[in-house]
Amino acid sequence: MLAVSCVSQSAEDPLSGLSVGEHADPDVPEGWIRVHTKATALNHHDLWSLKGVGLSEENLPMILGCDASGVTDDGRDVVVHAVISTPGWTGDETLDPRRTLLSELYDGTLAETVVVPAENVLPKPAALSWEEAACLPTAWLTAYRMLFTQSGLGPGDTVLVQGAGGGVATAAIVLARAAGFVVWATSRDESKRRRAVELGAHEAFEPGVRLPARVDAVMETVGKATWAHSMRALRPGGTLVVSGATSGADPSADLNRLFFLQLRVIGSTMGTRDELAGLLSFCEATGVRPLIDQVLPLRDARAGFERLATGDVFGKIVLTTS
Ligand SMILES: NC(=O)c1ccc[n+]([C@@H]2O[C@H](COP(=O)([O-])OP(=O)(O)OC[C@H]3O[C@@H](n4cnc5c(N)ncnc54)[C@H](OP(=O)(O)O)[C@@H]3O)[C@@H](O)[C@H]2O)c1
Repeated sequence: MLAVSCVSQSAEDPLSGLSVGEHADPDVPEGWIRVHTKATALNHHDLWSLKGVGLSEENLPMILGCDASGVTDDGRDVVVHAVISTPGWTGDETLDPRRTLLSELYDGTLAETVVVPAENVLPKPAALSWEEAACLPTAWLTAYRMLFTQSGLGPGDTVLVQGAGGGVATAAIVLARAAGFVVWATSRDESKRRRAVELGAHEAFEPGVRLPARVDAVMETVGKATWAHSMRALRPGGTLVVSGATSGADPSADLNRLFFLQLRVIGSTMGTRDELAGLLSFCEATGVRPLIDQVLPLRDARAGFERLATGDVFGKIVLTTS
């Protein structure tokens, strides 16, 4: 089968370790199932793997990818859930200390077939295309959990989304608007700020500027480059939800502001199977659809990775198998 793998890792030149080519068909362990992928999507996580973050060198070569939609051997149209918990784990699987994401210990979704635990698939709503469904399991699920499980936001509250162009950020803008929040966004790029407003943001700003008012919550995935602004943007008692640190993971903590304004900083990672089911229902009920930047054939994955690495994206890059 055709697959996109990480064969070596380099922080300086991550794409040097990317391989697109033939790969042996996977075995299907007891309790797992095979999904014939129709569409998969790229995430910044795949770049981190190529840089040597989150994926151990001893597990190479590894098929990359966390997102997929496809058809099971027994003919069901499904969306793949990428969080794999230890057998017997009950409750929120993102809190399982031994949970892993597809492409960390087990081969990922950037291939013509992917093998997952039987419980790690959900029915694909007919209303979503294969490409749209493939965008949901990582970036969109992460944004869904940040907004609806972690933030404490209620109807009419104001949320700031940093780094508007990213996969998680575009998802957060669309979901937040559909949920009835006031949505503000930042982006380094003027055209992305315009597109953020077209997408649903009420207003978009340059990074770091003084906002018209303090916000109830901030959705943070950029990290060091925007952290200070995120802290300054919050009202007393406000909540900063952080799920990523693309520009660096070691910002100044601003502890004085943290305790004096009684801010809450909440980490968030992926989401549960139940939250993915909630996201699928949310999309069906509201008509909300993932924003797709580009669709490429799987064999052209390198071109997609090159765009993701430059940060020159607005929405998701999707790879299709047929
Ligand atoms: N914890 C989790 O479960 C989880 C899940 C998904 C993603 N993540 C993490 O969240 C982060 C975003 O993921 P993603 O897939 O949305 O990434 P992405 O699509 O590559 O988006 C990154 C965005 O960050 C913004 N950015 C602002 N300042 C930046 C700077 N100085 N350097 C680089 N980017 C900058 C850019 O937006 P503008 O150009 O508009 O400014 C860019 O579009 C990644 O670090 C990823 O690993 C975590």
